[in-house]
Amino acid sequence: MSVIRSTVLGCGSYLPEKFLTNEELASMVDTSDDWIVQRTGIRKRHIASEGEFTSHLAVKAARRALDNAGFEAKDIDVIILATATPDNTFPATAVTVQHELGMHHGFAFDIQAVCSGFVFALATADNFLRSGQARRTLVIGAETFSRILDWQDRTTCVLFGDGAGAVVLEARQAEGSIADRGILTTHLRSDGSHKSKLYVDGGPSSTQTVGHLRMEGKEVFKHAVGMITDVIEDAYKATGLGSDDLDWFVPHQANKRIIDASAKKLGIAPEKVVTTVDQHGNTSAASIPLALDAAVRDGRIKRGDLVMLEAMGGGFTWGSALLRW
Ligand code: UT7
Repeated sequence: MSVIRSTVLGCGSYLPEKFLTNEELASMVDTSDDWIVQRTGIRKRHIASEGEFTSHLAVKAARRALDNAGFEAKDIDVIILATATPDNTFPATAVTVQHELGMHHGFAFDIQAVCSGFVFALATADNFLRSGQARRTLVIGAETFSRILDWQDRTTCVLFGDGAGAVVLEARQAEGSIADRGILTTHLRSDGSHKSKLYVDGGPSSTQTVGHLRMEGKEVFKHAVGMITDVIEDAYKATGLGSDDLDWFVPHQANKRIIDASAKKLGIAPEKVVTTVDQHGNTSAASIPLALDAAVRDGRIKRGDLVMLEAMGGGFTWGSALLRW
């Protein structure tokens, strides 16, 4: 049976030049390198400079992904940008990216699913491609969480950072088997009853301010592993594949303890887990494409490899995407 598969043809990422170490943070709030490393695995996070916006990071990552795929903006039909930290309330940051890339055809829009944003954007792109409404999409995750952190709150400000990552997908004919290249299955979930466990205490309609990130970290932690493993098991059920078949597990990079516990529960061997959280902290929607790009560039992820992506975040939202590179 011939089917359309959304196939990744290139990826790219960008981290702002400026970074903040745990030691530097310890001079700002009551924390320590030891505490941060032991509880989260994070060693540093990148911070956008003054005047450097989410769209600027997104454009840099997008250009690198286009170069890596061997395409130009004119070859793309749709840009989907996942972000919870847009340049402005509106227009969508995606249209700024579209403009900066010199693309005046097709369409561009933002998706807001916080840390799960990249998986939600990828699943959306997959639907456009498989339905024939688009031939090539650029999917970007880009964030400047440093702008919504309360820098007096040690329970949150040590955890997050800024960055962007992107992939280029193309609709390609395939056989309809699990050996196909491309996205094999995606599974998205949300449950708004958890919305007050991780949120921003401002917004245009409620307070007319931008607000700051607030989180009940322990509560988020408590739900994370179960939610992550549920949607991965959904992907296994849909495809008949399992943890032993995976070449790489590329999880959302929030906390090394969550990543390790999820991999352990699923029986995924530690050497198959791509972890970059030590280098950039939690970059929300940018974290999966940042980790993907790191593993592609250092030669770990190769064409034909089976890759499991997952994320969980504010809402709560959570999801998985299983693809063959
Ligand atoms: O992308 C999805 C979004 N977020 C997440 O996935 C985050 C999920 N949650 C977590 O990763 C963890 O819950 C945290 C890293 C946020 C916290 O780790 P924890 O092991 O759950 O620590 P805790 O909140 O239970 O705090 C333990 C202690 C507390 O002190 P007491 O009450 O035991 O005296 C905190 O006040 O650590 C204290 N603490 C800190 N100490 C030094 C909290 N933050 C800090 C800090 N430095 N930065």
